[in-house]
Formats: sequence, C-alpha cells, structure tokens
Amino acid sequence: MQTYVGAPQLPSDDKRWKIVEATARRHGREPHALIETLHTVQECFGYLDENALRFVASVLRVPLSRVYGAATFYHFFTLKPKGKHTCVVCTGTACYIKGAPLLLKAIERRHGIKPGETTPDGELSVLTARCLGSCGLAPAAVMDSAVLGKIAPEDILARIERGIHP
Ligand code: FES
Repeated sequence: MQTYVGAPQLPSDDKRWKIVEATARRHGREPHALIETLHTVQECFGYLDENALRFVASVLRVPLSRVYGAATFYHFFTLKPKGKHTCVVCTGTACYIKGAPLLLKAIERRHGIKPGETTPDGELSVLTARCLGSCGLAPAAVMDSAVLGKIAPEDILARIERGIHP
C-alpha cells in the first residue's frame, strides 16, 4: 500500500481534492477519519468512485477493502451512478442562491430525472454536491469531468445534449 510522506499527491489538479485532503489532514490522516473523509468526497463530487476511494485509502493509510466496505455499508454514501454520463449540480449556498434549483428543474423537465436518478436508457445520471470548490463560478456543475461555471439552464441542457450525443 502506498503511504505518504509529507503532502499527499492529489489525483488531479481539481480543487476538490484539496478539500478532501484538508478533511483528512484535520483528523491527522488517521484511519478513524474514514467516514468523515468519505463524506467530504461525496459533498464535493456528489458520489464516490474508484479513484476517490483509492485516494482516501492511501491518504488515511487504510486498506482499500475497508474503504469499499464503509462506502457500500452506509446508505448515505452514493457510489458512482449507473448512467453513462453524469451531471453533478452544485447546491451549495453560493450556487443555490445563483440558481442551482433552476438547473435541476430544467434537467428534470427535459430528462425526467431528479438528483440521484438515471434515465431509463442509462445515458444520464444527475446528482447534487454541496460545494464543488468553485463558488466564484456559481452556479456551477460538472458534466462528466468538465466544470461548468455561471451556467444557465439552457446552457446546461445544451452541454448535457453534447455530452450524450457528441
Ligand atoms: S457552493 Fe457551489 S461551488 Fe461552492
């Protein structure tokens, strides 16, 4: 298992990893911080995927199996959704005020799904996150891995369309 000496290597330059790492650091990067750190991943990304679980395992120096165990045992964690494409809409305070509910409403009207749901054809899953770490870009969303800032309802629908039918 990989262990970190000094600052851990983040999976990418996505600012959200820094928020996750800060939670782990606050708890001394000890194994008992597992649930707390997974919560932060979920709040920042909307779900837990393998990449995130691996990062949490290495940063807290716990076996990946234990991280998987916690992620699948507790109902409040969502594993990577089933849809081929994923749209995560930030509903943190800044984004909420700037119109996140309108984004969700537009998606629901067009695709018939609410946060946590996947279209029947398996093309799109919609999720919410509590802060994507880009409050200056509110309202923000992430379509697959692209961060969308100051996005209007019609633009998010267009981005989803382009994502599904490139
Ligand atoms: S509240 Fe939405 S990015 Fe921070």
